[in-house]
Amino acid sequence: MSTTRQATATGTTTTLLAIETSCDETSVAVVRGPAADPAAADLDRFAPTEVLSNVVSSQIDLHAAFGGVVPEVASRAHLEMLESVVARALADAGIDDEPERHLDAVAATCGPGLIGALLIGVSAAKSLALAWGVPYVGVNHMEGHLFATFLERPDLELPLVVLLVSGGHTMLVEVRRPGRYRLLGSTIDDAAGEAFDKVARYLGLGYPGGPIIDRLATEGDPHAIRFPRGMINEGLDFSFSGMKTAVVNFVRRHPHVSDADVAAGFQEAVVDVLVAKTLRAGAKVGARTLCLGGGVAANSRLRDRFGAEAAAAGYDVLVPDRAYCTDNAAMIGSAALWRLANDGPGSLDSGADPSLRLELVR
Ligand code: KG4
Ligand code: ZN
Repeated sequence: MSTTRQATATGTTTTLLAIETSCDETSVAVVRGPAADPAAADLDRFAPTEVLSNVVSSQIDLHAAFGGVVPEVASRAHLEMLESVVARALADAGIDDEPERHLDAVAATCGPGLIGALLIGVSAAKSLALAWGVPYVGVNHMEGHLFATFLERPDLELPLVVLLVSGGHTMLVEVRRPGRYRLLGSTIDDAAGEAFDKVARYLGLGYPGGPIIDRLATEGDPHAIRFPRGMINEGLDFSFSGMKTAVVNFVRRHPHVSDADVAAGFQEAVVDVLVAKTLRAGAKVGARTLCLGGGVAANSRLRDRFGAEAAAAGYDVLVPDRAYCTDNAAMIGSAALWRLANDGPGSLDSGADPSLRLELVR
């Protein structure tokens, strides 16, 4: 997925190379936005980000044999792939020589994620920034997922509520403007993606579980087995570990049950909770728009039901392209453009933080 528009550095725009290596995708993008001049940029709005290239090299096949991401394997694969992914992202953006003439900054995800994997991206970004004589910007991966929702529709009406559902996080975030995020709810145990992955592993379906369950569920009946809807009537926090245990207990008691019905029933329970809580969060804060983000936002059933039910409740809805839901560097580049304009260049002494938190307001 890429475009071939020619990237050139000008005074009115910022062209930036972004690197994402927080988990099991090696991704590099070249993006362009308004100039990183706080006086010129309107920092209270999400500015349009032009994606000149967005290359994603997945390590899924490497990890599948182990049933999950192996941190050492991930770091090594990022190291092996990064140079060629950078070259491809530059070429796709039409930058054939002297990148320093075209690029104004280099960004990388600096957390949260696997520390070894993060350090590969951060070290590469800092080295390139030094070599090209341009600023370095460190980006919070979750802020990247938030910015992904604006890649296609920077004009979304604020305030909005984003349901961020990934392998490591389940968060309902109120966005009043860029950089001002309020956490409305989060999981008290497993993340939504983690629950998909664990259920798939228990059923012996493979890794990563989300896409496999999504596919298998299309062959099953979502109403054949009713699994519990953890905490569905209690506030805005989530709990998925009970649903996972309910699946395990059910399959133990009914060893001949169809995997497709289990997958469809489990997925329906998760989607019921995610949609109900996002609608409740939207009503609570008077949101104009409801959005999805993170890898689980690639789930077909969630996309269909979220889109339909949020629209029926009167919200403007954004369900991003699947390529912008799962990990990608374009979203990191978009967040980096705003961070660079708002905070200025990051320090070359800064490192990576595996537990980096999203900066929140109360
Ligand atoms: O955002 P992401 O790509 O990486 C993290 O930051 O964690 O999310 C990965 C998670 C995994 O748990 C994966 O199983 C889940 O997203 N996922 C899905 C689907 N595609 C990916 N879950 C449900 N349905 C899908 N189609
Ligand atoms: Zn992610």
